[in-house]
Amino acid sequence: MFFFLYISCVIPKKAVPLQSQKCCIMRNTIVILFTALAVLTACSPRQPQYRIGVSQCLDDAWRQKMNYEMERELLLHPDMVLSRRIAYGNNEMQCAQIDSFIAEQVDLLIVSPNEAEAVKPAVTRAYRAGIPVIVADRRVTGDEWTAFIGGDNYKVGSLMAQWITSQLSSLGLVKSSARSDCRWPSVELAGGVVVLEVAGLPGSTPATLRHQGLMDGLPEGVEVHSVMGSWYREEAYKVVSEYLASHPMPDLIVAHNDLMAIGAAEAAVGIPIMGVDGIKPGLQAIVEGKITCSATYSSRGDLVIDAAARILHNEPYVRDTVLETVLVDAEAAYPMLKQDEDITRDLETLHLVQTQTESKWRQMQFDRIVLSVFVAVFFILFVATLSYIIVRQLKLQTEIKRDILPQLENMQEAIQLSRRDEAFAERLKQIVDEHIADPNLNVEYLGSMLQLSRTQLFRRVKTVTGKGPLDYIREQRLIRADQLLHTTDMTIQQVALELCFSSAGYFTKCYKEYFGHLPSER
Ligand code: FRU
Repeated sequence: MFFFLYISCVIPKKAVPLQSQKCCIMRNTIVILFTALAVLTACSPRQPQYRIGVSQCLDDAWRQKMNYEMERELLLHPDMVLSRRIAYGNNEMQCAQIDSFIAEQVDLLIVSPNEAEAVKPAVTRAYRAGIPVIVADRRVTGDEWTAFIGGDNYKVGSLMAQWITSQLSSLGLVKSSARSDCRWPSVELAGGVVVLEVAGLPGSTPATLRHQGLMDGLPEGVEVHSVMGSWYREEAYKVVSEYLASHPMPDLIVAHNDLMAIGAAEAAVGIPIMGVDGIKPGLQAIVEGKITCSATYSSRGDLVIDAAARILHNEPYVRDTVLETVLVDAEAAYPMLKQDEDITRDLETLHLVQTQTESKWRQMQFDRIVLSVFVAVFFILFVATLSYIIVRQLKLQTEIKRDILPQLENMQEAIQLSRRDEAFAERLKQIVDEHIADPNLNVEYLGSMLQLSRTQLFRRVKTVTGKGPLDYIREQRLIRADQLLHTTDMTIQQVALELCFSSAGYFTKCYKEYFGHLPSER
């Protein structure tokens, strides 16, 4: 069927010269080839339209959760694809990665800046290059960004202050109760209270705001000593150990995240410690009694992707989204851990399914490419062979028309002519035979019998006999004379007279000329 379809498409409909026919076949073939390729391409699934660059400052459990959330949400947006780069806490590296996203002309940039001021120039460059920028979790200074989604870090600091206040009485540190006219409970402390704050990277907005919220919310008389854990567990362990080497044990420890709280707990065993984040590692540590409590700090990668989709699709979006935070104590930690484990399992399953899908997809792509190559090669061979055959056919047709047909026509004509001549020769012979003894049988008589002019008669008799009409009549009379001489008792004189020769001498002369001997010598 394909063959006939191809033939009907490639062969020109009208009779055109060979050169134009070749061009026509080539053109139609190319059109068919491109149509077939277009059909093949159209069968491929939709390709992502938007490329999104994600610049993550770190790669800890909290970031991985955020990444998973983004990927899960991305399943709802097949027109978007993510490219993620991690700066591992290095400002220069993060700026370079953002610049590479700018160079690649991504359609949107999601950035969680390591430190606000240090990363701001690269974020500004992206924004000024016309790339929409979503700042997630940590802020940048200035307002050259498109949207922000992140936690309320000042509130996180306030929750730390509240927790510290709540711990004072249980530690037996309160002398008098809270005054009702005060924002935070006012307490008098027995012997002074020392809180060790293990801070995140000072240049990051969560560290600054958490510290701010903590300081603003603390009751008077609480002494805060700060060390910098830079968000890392190992660093927290190190700086707390160093602190303890030169200071007495603090009454309480607050760490800007759970990882640092765990690190601090390993150095200052038995001291009540509050962390921040409230995801698996922190919740686990609370359940195991390593740290006392935490504050939730949502990552909500799903919201980030949703905002990205809205921005890219020119739909309305919220410019500044601040996420809620709540305290997680030992009671809340266990169910939250179970829930978190379920979510993590779901996310892991999702990740697995995604990986499997991707690998299957890659296999499909590979098969598709192999199939396309096979189809293309087959098609090209098919088209080439067919074109060759068609072009050759056309060439042969032309050659037949040009060289052989005229010859055939000539031959047919010749055959017809010779048939006509045969009939004419027969008729001529018949007339001559019938009137062979008639003295009136001459050129005029023959012309009138055959309805030909003198010239026509001469030409046609010459064609069929090779001689003129008179010579032909004489030849026939000599042949008849020879028969008579052989089959009758007639004399030469009688035969010459019978066959209208003017004299016996003239007959003898003609006879000798024709037969090569005298009639008497027979
Ligand atoms: C994760 C993290 C969290 C913290 C947040 C602050 O990389 O360190 O633990 O709450 O970043 O930006």
